[in-house]
Amino acid sequence: MTVWDNIYKNYQKGGDAWATLSEEIHPLFKEFLEKENFDLKSIFDIGCGTGKYLEFLKAYGFKTDGIDSSETAVEMTKEKLSSDSVVTCTNMFEFAIPQNKYDLVISIATIHHGTKKQVQGLINKVYAVLVESGKIFMTLPDIESTKKWNTFKDHKEVAPGTFEPLAGPEQGLPHSFYAKEEIEELFSRFTNVQIDLDDRGRWIIRGIK
Ligand SMILES: C[S@@+](CC[C@H](N)C(=O)[O-])C[C@H]1O[C@@H](n2cnc3c(N)ncnc32)[C@H](O)[C@@H]1O
Repeated sequence: MTVWDNIYKNYQKGGDAWATLSEEIHPLFKEFLEKENFDLKSIFDIGCGTGKYLEFLKAYGFKTDGIDSSETAVEMTKEKLSSDSVVTCTNMFEFAIPQNKYDLVISIATIHHGTKKQVQGLINKVYAVLVESGKIFMTLPDIESTKKWNTFKDHKEVAPGTFEPLAGPEQGLPHSFYAKEEIEELFSRFTNVQIDLDDRGRWIIRGIK
């Protein structure tokens, strides 16, 4: 069972709506959707959690697929989507992502749960899974958040720029944090890259293949 599987199971029993569990759809995501024009409308969500974003996109007519490493989250997501959605329980760093398949790849508060080397490898796979001119909307935490987020009051550095909280629901789960220049480098293969810092200490990254 993963760290987040425990968080979801606890939530189902009436426990804490930890982190993203209490969040609405990001306002910048709503703005992004309204501005963009998606012809084929197929979307892939990395770390779909309880399916909040996929359910929202289903209403726009998207074909909604996703992955998450928590079995509980995958079950919760499947309940919200139609049977043509493919939602798989798997580790995003090991998943064999198909090539040239999706118009949009999103990932909210997820891809940083590994070392920086793993994150770079995953972003390369995201580039490959997109159709030509496909788009991304992803988030990564800002390096300054290590000083601001309560969870990181006590932490250890397990790899350069990668920290694990020593207490709390996410104890022992790696989180990589980034400065803006690193994000520019990470997404350098994409065009029209827009990087904004939100009020939760996360970089919001938009771009085109
Ligand atoms: C902070 S939650 C965000 C969930 C969702 N994106 C949202 O905004 O509501 C992080 C999610 O990443 C998933 N996750 C963590 N490590 C993962 C991995 N290696 N592979 C796939 N999913 C992972 C967790 O199970 C959890 O659902």
